[in-house]
Amino acid sequence: MLINVPKASAVKESEITDEKVYNQRRDILKSMGFIGASALLTSQPAQAGFFTSDDKKTFKTRALEYTPAVTSQQSQAFTPEEKIITHNNFYEFGTAKSDPVENAQQFKVNPWRLSVEGLAETPFTLNYDDLFSQFPLEERIYRMRCVEAWSMVVPWIGFSLAALIKKAKPLSSAKYVSFETLYDPKQMPGQKNRFAGGGIEYPYVEGLRLDEAMHPLTLLSVGLYGKTLPAQNGAPIRLVVPWKYGFKSIKSITRIRLTDKRPPTTWNILAASEYGFYANVNPEVSHPRWSQASERRISSAGLFSRNRIDTKMFNGYDEVASLYQGMDLRKNF
Ligand code: MTE
Repeated sequence: MLINVPKASAVKESEITDEKVYNQRRDILKSMGFIGASALLTSQPAQAGFFTSDDKKTFKTRALEYTPAVTSQQSQAFTPEEKIITHNNFYEFGTAKSDPVENAQQFKVNPWRLSVEGLAETPFTLNYDDLFSQFPLEERIYRMRCVEAWSMVVPWIGFSLAALIKKAKPLSSAKYVSFETLYDPKQMPGQKNRFAGGGIEYPYVEGLRLDEAMHPLTLLSVGLYGKTLPAQNGAPIRLVVPWKYGFKSIKSITRIRLTDKRPPTTWNILAASEYGFYANVNPEVSHPRWSQASERRISSAGLFSRNRIDTKMFNGYDEVASLYQGMDLRKNF
């Protein structure tokens, strides 16, 4: 996300490609087992202030059991795992794209407690193990479009948010669903320091209309690329709403609440004229400071590649169009 920068083109390539930061990330990835040692024969000097395999623990992921996606549609171009887990927005761990992978490696996700509450007949809570065992896990390959005009194709693993909501038996008065990220300033440096956290009022909060939440595309993700989520991608459980800009996909959720009022959402609180409640991907509605008509797809082409494609309405997920029939999507951006 961007605050107070002139336009999207001002997002420096160096934000994602700065060689020093990239090499530091490679140290972390190597210690996580993502990069073979042979690729690192020229070892990088240790950098003060960053975690390395020698002096700091790294976040552990493990293989998951799940039903693989049947679609061949996306065999085209998954974004490589290394890019999905090193180019992140997770302001609780810092505002630069490289901050989460560098600062989240000691994040503790077990024990975890996710409460499902509010206007429901049978509210309940899930512990860490429940997140992986209460609902059958399946793979969903989704195109993800960030409001900063880059996109990725991610093989998520998770279950439909609808399944979780049904289990709580919503009352007829429930019209919206609100979400809240863990609040733990001891673990999340961005929550301790307003500047480091991008001026956000924590905990990070998000919301959906109940019908959006119940749509079969809406996913609660617990993994990607066959394994549990890395901390920087929102472990142990995060939302994924593929027809909306990425900021709706709230990470590391501890509370899901059924409500009768439209819930406040973090980026809307911070800059209402720039980030709406709906946040549907819409090439015809520019962000006040840059166009949304096209996007840079982060793919296996080199880090410096200019892989620009046209952005589609609802990020190409036309099946959600009926949710917004009769609404002016210029006003309801
Ligand atoms: N959730 C929390 N709690 N904190 C954040 O800063 N950033 C959002 C979203 N969820 C964010 C968050 C934004 S702006 C984006 S684009 C996506 O997470 C990025 O997800 P990714 O890092 O897995 O690509």
